[in-house]
Amino acid sequence: MRVTLVATAPSDLAVDALAIPIATGQRLSGIGLDVDRALGGLLSELLEKAEFKGRNHEILPVPTSGRIAPRRVILYGLGATRDLDGQRLRSTHHELVRASRTYGYKRLALARMDPLGTDALQAVVEGCVMGTFERRSRQTGPQPERGEVDELVLTGFGQGREHEVVQAQEAGEATNHAREWQNAPANELTPDALAREATKIAQRHGLEIEVLGPADLRAGGYNLLLGVASGSAQPARMIRLRHRGNQAAGGAAKTDAVVLALVGKGVTFDTGGISLKEPASMSLMKADMAGAAAVLAAIDVIAARKLPLDVMAVVAATENMPGPTAQRPGDVVVSADGKTVEVLNTDAEGRLILADAITHALRNGATHVIDLATLTGAATVAIGHGATAAVSNDDAFWALIEEAARRAGDRVWRLPIYADYRVLLRSQIADLRNAEYGEAGAILGGMFIGEFARGKPWAHLDIAASSWNTNSELTTVLRGPSGAGTRLCIELAELMARPAR
Ligand code: BES
Ligand code: ZN
Ligand code: MN
Repeated sequence: MRVTLVATAPSDLAVDALAIPIATGQRLSGIGLDVDRALGGLLSELLEKAEFKGRNHEILPVPTSGRIAPRRVILYGLGATRDLDGQRLRSTHHELVRASRTYGYKRLALARMDPLGTDALQAVVEGCVMGTFERRSRQTGPQPERGEVDELVLTGFGQGREHEVVQAQEAGEATNHAREWQNAPANELTPDALAREATKIAQRHGLEIEVLGPADLRAGGYNLLLGVASGSAQPARMIRLRHRGNQAAGGAAKTDAVVLALVGKGVTFDTGGISLKEPASMSLMKADMAGAAAVLAAIDVIAARKLPLDVMAVVAATENMPGPTAQRPGDVVVSADGKTVEVLNTDAEGRLILADAITHALRNGATHVIDLATLTGAATVAIGHGATAAVSNDDAFWALIEEAARRAGDRVWRLPIYADYRVLLRSQIADLRNAEYGEAGAILGGMFIGEFARGKPWAHLDIAASSWNTNSELTTVLRGPSGAGTRLCIELAELMARPAR
């Protein structure tokens, strides 16, 4: 999709449709009134008669019968102004583009009008680009028809902002890459296939890449990852990409520089292992690598922008399968960090592989760690699909993450870490147990992982609910794979690369 910024009057744009945003109860003003007059008051009549109310995701195409250059006007609803956050802006424009594709509009214009501020540019472009997403079909024969919006023309956002548009397009497309990986079936996107995707990213930007296989993992003592992988015929992979963006002139790395590690859970399929899951919707566990998808998609953009910050992406990739070689509930495993873990439930595998992945990041010089993982069903219970549940051991680092989330329209909500709860992580026979905490599942899952951060600033994003909305009644949150965390990681790297003056 080509995105352009113009100063042309909306009525003069030769496009298939001109989209006009309306909030609930809003009357036309500015650009909207000009278009309304050119249409002989048709739009204000629709609003007065409440045929269009401006409710979020409400969309009404209006024929223009040759009175203005656009073939159609589409009124689209923003909902109540006070609810218009970054997430809503994006999902609204996502749906606007999807509707336009259904109607067959190839050239779409969008006229900015209050309450859409000029600062909404990034959100509008990201949302529209995300709306071009289509899960890649594996169907044979004729494909169901949904068109493409080839061109998006933005008017009313001011001039000279092309760079912002390009960045928003990058972020929107990266989100869609993550969504496509989430959607890929597990027999296609195996741990090794994930490593090959990472290799493509590394080659594209000349990044350093390391992929550890089972022999390397044994040598490094990454037994938690190997334990989860032991039931699978697919060999595990520990993938590490490094963008060295902090090199001072002369090539040497600056001293006491920040090294941000983006650590992703890459379980390409989670059956639960011996603690087998119920068959109902187990197929969704092909997306148990959404954390890996987000960090890979993010570092692709971070490297493309050549951000002046050292960033690594670490992905622990494996299947979690039952079988004669699988680990058993009750097994005790020695982590790469040296701590022993009693595996009481083989379905609590994410925290195991993330513990080793964080150790790997620290061994490679990480100073700040953020992990992204589809970790717990409890995250859905606690917060639902509208936001990522999080924990962190560091208020300053968390403040950056919260700001990144706001800029990205990628919601997070921090849950507390209470020192009292650490007793619940204890095992009778090992340093830690991986399950059976009795309560606070999302917090304790995060706290388990935090035990391996060695006091470094760390945050854990549990994207189990936010990465895939399965609630068909919750229509204002993107349904299906969302790429949660992708844009947040990009914005976090931006903030850390260019600290506020
Ligand atoms: N991958 C799942 C979590 C999950 C559930 C992600 C639903 C997306 C949708 C994770 O590995 C898991 O099985 N967690 C267990 C942990 C429990 C055994 C402590 C859970 O949440 O039930
Ligand atoms: Zn899992
Ligand atoms: Mn599991």
